[in-house]
Amino acid sequence: MQYLSIKGNQKLKGSVGISGAKNAALPLLAVTLLSKNRVSIENIPEVEDVKTLLTLLGNLGSNSSCSNNHVTIDTTEVKSACANYEIVKKMRASILTLGPLLARFGHCEVSLPGGCAIGQRPIDLHLNALEQMGATIELKDGYVVAKAPNGLKGAAIIFNKITVTGSENIIMAASLAHGVTKLVNVAKEPEVVQLCEVLQDAGVVIEGVGTSNLIIFGSCGKLLDMKNFKVIPDRIEAGTYLCAGAITNSKITVTNVNPNHMKEITLKLIQMGFGIKETKSTITILPAKKILPIHIETTEYPGFPTDMQAQFMALCTQANGTSVINERLFENRFMHVSELGRMGTNIKLEGHSATIQGDSQLNSADVMATDLRASSALILAGFVAKGTTKIHRIYHLDRGYENLEGKFSKLGAKIERLEE
Ligand code: UD1
Repeated sequence: MQYLSIKGNQKLKGSVGISGAKNAALPLLAVTLLSKNRVSIENIPEVEDVKTLLTLLGNLGSNSSCSNNHVTIDTTEVKSACANYEIVKKMRASILTLGPLLARFGHCEVSLPGGCAIGQRPIDLHLNALEQMGATIELKDGYVVAKAPNGLKGAAIIFNKITVTGSENIIMAASLAHGVTKLVNVAKEPEVVQLCEVLQDAGVVIEGVGTSNLIIFGSCGKLLDMKNFKVIPDRIEAGTYLCAGAITNSKITVTNVNPNHMKEITLKLIQMGFGIKETKSTITILPAKKILPIHIETTEYPGFPTDMQAQFMALCTQANGTSVINERLFENRFMHVSELGRMGTNIKLEGHSATIQGDSQLNSADVMATDLRASSALILAGFVAKGTTKIHRIYHLDRGYENLEGKFSKLGAKIERLEE
């Protein structure tokens, strides 16, 4: 097994190019199941989650080729509508095939997902919405068995909680449904917006894109004429690199980003005393005279993203005072706290709230990655720890960060991937 070795007490400098957004690429690959033609997609991040979904789509019968962050995918030969456990267990987002498969074939079997261990993460909202669209759903031997032999029907659906992949699944299903679907309380994440835009380019009429209320006019089962497109930049990867600049109090620039998608992240960095300079596609972070403590509450977009919570927690250990982070989306998303504790942090947990003592001198340690974003917090902590930190189980990181040690090395970090 591989691990990362990180030398502490580092300064970073220079610039780093940000990849396409993993969380946009996944629904955008799933939506090609609705296409009647081959689709070419640029700026696809080469990360494990994308490879897993391409394997799943390949098992269903699609053909794809991938090189230099460019994927060409043809799903016209897909015959199977069964996403099996062996693949789905690797990645929760495999559930994104449920909506498109059911809409296209009128039946499908998708294994119940595994993925990051950050709380219960049910899919009841996905299933309820599909039932409202006329599907019958059974849970059998660990599989969601869904049927809609006469096709899905437009419906008025209110999500009683905001769900990103749930919104995406139902947007895809509604695009091929018979009639009009009205969705209330839809996620407004940039990744959801891009999915809608790609569907609009394919001829689907969607009103309200970017708001929480969508009206989608289905194609009555007709496959779509999908156009080629380019995946939006990964705001979480960009935010992680900005936090690396922040924790080492260095000046670094992230390029190929959309600063409009990152307002809440840059705002928090400014509140902590860092300088932020933006152009249309770059963000530069400038050192703080004094790193200030902060109060963060994770919420749905456009609020502060839960996927940046762990990285900011590592950063707060270096602030001049006590910070508080409230995690509102996932009940179990504090697993990095005990690993950070092994490096000498002082973080107290009470329910959904973490209180982080600043001015902590961190020590190197052997630590374990527990989920994708938690692992990046350990890297950040490693950059300011005394000595060499070893991070094990880095397959979690490879799920979502492309060429991680290459990109950090380019910024001057002493980071290596080694074999146990
Ligand atoms: C997506 C992102 C993930 C991010 C999360 C929140 C992808 C591939 N993953 O995950 O990186 O951390 O959004 O921004 O895009 N819920 C239910 N029932 C459901 C669905 C969700 O109760 O049927 C709850 C969840 O337990 C959670 C909340 O809703 O408390 C939000 O989850 P959701 O937005 O669905 O997260 P994902 O789409 O899985």
